[in-house]
Amino acid sequence: MNDGLKPPSPSSSLEEMKQTPLFTSEGDKNEEAHQPEGVNLHELELKRTKHKPRANELDGKTWTRYSISIWSDLRKTPEENQLKHPAMFPLELAKRAIDCFTNKMDRVVLDPFVGVGTTVLAAQEAGKTGIGIEISPEFAEIAKKRLGKVRLWSESSEGEGIIHVDDANNLLDYVKPETVDFCLTSPPYWDILLRPRTADYKEQRDYGDTEADIGKIADYYEFLSALGNIMQKVFSVLRSGKYCLVVVMDIRKKNRFYPFHSDVAGVMQDIGFVYDDLIIWDRRHEYNNMRPLGYPYVFRINKAHEYILIFQKP
Ligand SMILES: C[S@@+](CC[C@H](N)C(=O)[O-])C[C@H]1O[C@@H](n2cnc3c(N)ncnc32)[C@H](O)[C@@H]1O
Repeated sequence: MNDGLKPPSPSSSLEEMKQTPLFTSEGDKNEEAHQPEGVNLHELELKRTKHKPRANELDGKTWTRYSISIWSDLRKTPEENQLKHPAMFPLELAKRAIDCFTNKMDRVVLDPFVGVGTTVLAAQEAGKTGIGIEISPEFAEIAKKRLGKVRLWSESSEGEGIIHVDDANNLLDYVKPETVDFCLTSPPYWDILLRPRTADYKEQRDYGDTEADIGKIADYYEFLSALGNIMQKVFSVLRSGKYCLVVVMDIRKKNRFYPFHSDVAGVMQDIGFVYDDLIIWDRRHEYNNMRPLGYPYVFRINKAHEYILIFQKP
């Protein structure tokens, strides 16, 4: 692993890199980089942790493993595959995101586009309070059932899951400003689920008939602005210093490419979020229908990845 202090020498083995000490923030790295000789790093670390909370509860080995910029090992369970949501992410993704971006003091996790409840379920399983908003009563119902099942299985869990069936524009009716410790969400990918799927000819599906569903807005820029209005509210309920992760995929409609992940990054920065980094969610294992898109006239890309965009409220 490269800890960010200096690049590993060409001779460094993976094992040697794994031994490299881990630091919790940029500040730590800089301190280490300017470390005078003879200073006890452990003592320094202890002093530091008195004043600075941990980023999460991961051990160094897991921290290293999760810090890779491409997440290729996430799989949906057979139970998740049976849920009839066209665009849910796996519980494993939500659990990992919570493990990476919250510590034990962080209690409240939010998803304003909660779908069938994956983020809230992961929060509940982590012993936290998950709050989800979903416009579709049908999906919200599935979410509630999933949360109920976890309750039955693990009475000991101190976590709690709350699902509100509403437009996420009404977020402030349910959540007070500066009370949320982490947000993980995946908005509709514009109106893409209403369009015929020319890339894979899969059956066309959408999220239902509700008017406030931002996935029904036909104009891309109007859609981005509607998304921005909701994320503005997320910004106000998030505590300072906390993270908001947004899972998205880029979009193509015929000849036009929409770099949705870049546009979301723009919207979030306009709101005031800091664009901290991104992770590629590699979904190649789910794509068994590679086709020669555009062949033989124009070379088109078979998209087999999504983005997990990382934002922080300053
Ligand atoms: C990509 S899906 C989220 C899936 C979710 N991550 C999961 O694992 O189930 C986006 C969701 O946003 C919901 N949605 C669209 N407009 C909304 C709005 N204004 N308020 C709340 N939810 C909305 C859709 O019904 C859909 O379920």
